[in-house]
Amino acid sequence: MEFVVQGGRRLEGTLRVDGAKNAALPILAASVLTEDAVHLTGVPDILDVRRMGDILQILGCDVQHTGGTYRVCAQSMHKSEMPDALSKQIRSSIFLLGPILSRFRKATVTYPGGCEIGLRPIDLHLSGLRALGVDVQEDGGVIRCDGSHMHAGDVHLDYPSVGATENVIMAAVCLPGTTTIHNAAREPEIVDLCRFLGCMGGKIEGAGSATILIEGVKRLHGTTYTPMPDRIVAGTLLCAGAITGGEVELTNVPVEDLHAVCAKLREMGCVLHEEADIIRLIAPQRLTAFSMLQTQPHPGFPTDMQAQMLALLSVAEGTGVIVENVFENRFGHAGDLNRMGARILCSGRTAIVRGVENLTGAHVTARDLRGGAALTLAALRAQGETIVDHAELIDRGYDHLEDQLNRLGAAVKRISST
Ligand code: EPU
Repeated sequence: MEFVVQGGRRLEGTLRVDGAKNAALPILAASVLTEDAVHLTGVPDILDVRRMGDILQILGCDVQHTGGTYRVCAQSMHKSEMPDALSKQIRSSIFLLGPILSRFRKATVTYPGGCEIGLRPIDLHLSGLRALGVDVQEDGGVIRCDGSHMHAGDVHLDYPSVGATENVIMAAVCLPGTTTIHNAAREPEIVDLCRFLGCMGGKIEGAGSATILIEGVKRLHGTTYTPMPDRIVAGTLLCAGAITGGEVELTNVPVEDLHAVCAKLREMGCVLHEEADIIRLIAPQRLTAFSMLQTQPHPGFPTDMQAQMLALLSVAEGTGVIVENVFENRFGHAGDLNRMGARILCSGRTAIVRGVENLTGAHVTARDLRGGAALTLAALRAQGETIVDHAELIDRGYDHLEDQLNRLGAAVKRISST
């Protein structure tokens, strides 16, 4: 599938932001922690979420889905072995490890797939579970976990991994006693997962800080929940306004969680108004380069917005540097931006960007979700037509990005390959 973009239009208008992929995925995984039905609303209709629904069904859960509403009932769940092929397609399949262990005291998973943005090992997930008494055996890409002696405990993460923090929380929420996670990740999606588990009867304190305390409960019950809105989708749409010199208003925005992104957009000359859950952006005709941006775990600048900022920096006035500290291979989009006329020099985790006045339409290829979104942003600004190949990767995390951009006045066509 490809996006065909006619560039050079100024974007203007109002959009409502959807539910967050990175909140919905662990929440769907956590739904199997109870035998009661869980109702989710406002779930984004994106590829990774649909694949997670498919995995839950293969495990024996009853999953019903219409639009943004999911009903998951795991009473009939009978499998503790993750389906190999589907797990390789989405990284977040690994989020099921903790919940399956909690349900069956055993789990078998294969190494998960996901975007090609780095090695993405799962050693922190496994060491976290080992600290809870899980016996982990790895054999030829298959990981067999025996949780017959699982217990609450102290988990020290060497690095605040989002997925490892979520897995340990879900594994521990029904273990008798107190589990403490030290050096936990502080991403807002972790707070959202804990809020969801709280609605199911879980007792968790400290989510959003580096120390999380989990008081094990006997059982969790069903609930109805709406995952938080997507801060990365919101950030991407703000960037679409910024790169086209436009004016964009977003509603249903987790404003507090976007501070690092808004600060950089302000540094580039955009005017932003924030009030309650609404953000308005007014962009200058030409952006100004910031001198330095470094991605960091939350509350630092999110790695999931790095690619989009690289696109913006490409057309800003001046020279700026971006350092990617979270993933080791997340500049896949730089070569394609250069093909469109950008002047980016990458070395290891650093990109040095000399802003150019104009980009030119070209045939480019999305290599990962956020990189694909960044190329689409660049195409909005470029003169002429750009074809973004492999745009199906963008569908992993954006619900019809082209429709959203078109509602703001862009001209983006989805062309399905036959
Ligand atoms: N890491 C390890 N060992 C582990 C786990 C992680 O070395 O056991 C490394 C990773 O390789 C990476 C770094 O730690 O270099 C951060 O990884 P983390 O575990 O924090 O990320 P994740 O849980 O795999 C989630 C999001 C990503 C987002 C990161 C960081 C979901 C489904 N995915 O991934 O989202 O970039 O946190 O915020 O929640 C995206 O949406 O485009 C995306 C990639």
